[in-house]
Amino acid sequence: MNKIVIAVDGYSSSGKSTMARELAHKIGYVYVDSGAMYRAVTLYALRHGLASAESGVYVEGLIRALPLIHISFSVEADGSQHTMLNGEDVEREIRGMEVSGLVSPVAVIPEVRHALVAMQQAYGHDKGIVMDGRDIGTTVFPDAEMKVFVEASPEVRAERRVLELRAKGADVDYDSVIANIRERDRIDTTRAESPLRMAEDAVLLNNDNMTREEQMEWMLNLYKERIADNGCVK
Ligand code: DC
Repeated sequence: MNKIVIAVDGYSSSGKSTMARELAHKIGYVYVDSGAMYRAVTLYALRHGLASAESGVYVEGLIRALPLIHISFSVEADGSQHTMLNGEDVEREIRGMEVSGLVSPVAVIPEVRHALVAMQQAYGHDKGIVMDGRDIGTTVFPDAEMKVFVEASPEVRAERRVLELRAKGADVDYDSVIANIRERDRIDTTRAESPLRMAEDAVLLNNDNMTREEQMEWMLNLYKERIADNGCVK
């Protein structure tokens, strides 16, 4: 066995996607952002009248539409990865506040989770993958050789998210962003199906006071340990 499976779970806006993507790039693994898949399903629901900020999610309708929703990823010339919904690049749209406000109620629907978990497990079939999300180390890949659980305080996460959204030209205020983060934490940790929790064999990383470079060094060191533990050749 040459390659391992790496699961990176944690709270929203904890920086886990950036870390997971950079790690995958450095070690030549495939990167999958599982949150983007839940976001793409949410965008589909919004566009097809199956969800709205006013009335929430029309669960029955969305379950019926699941076979019509195809999600894939494309790799751009600059190496960045874009989420495709039924062949359309929706990378930008799925990051907006409208989708962020409805994605947690979509992600509690067991049928949505089952469909996406099956796709995620298929991606990991040949190993050599870094996947980030909420339930990767617990449900999607319970046997992953390396599991990381990332946490940071809501305040630090909100500040990072505001900077990120403003850099993309979005007009956002801190109060609504932190409210959205707290509400998503609440739904993600208390839902019945695959709630966000740290796997028993995961390693905790609190990155409140860490630079991006320090986090990457930490990840690479753990990766090297796991590779050695598993007798893998780099
Ligand atoms: O990581 P993110 O903020 O892009 O994730 C968006 C939402 O999707 C988040 O509120 C929880 C949900 N999610 C999930 O339930 N399970 C995953 N594996 C990934 C994301």
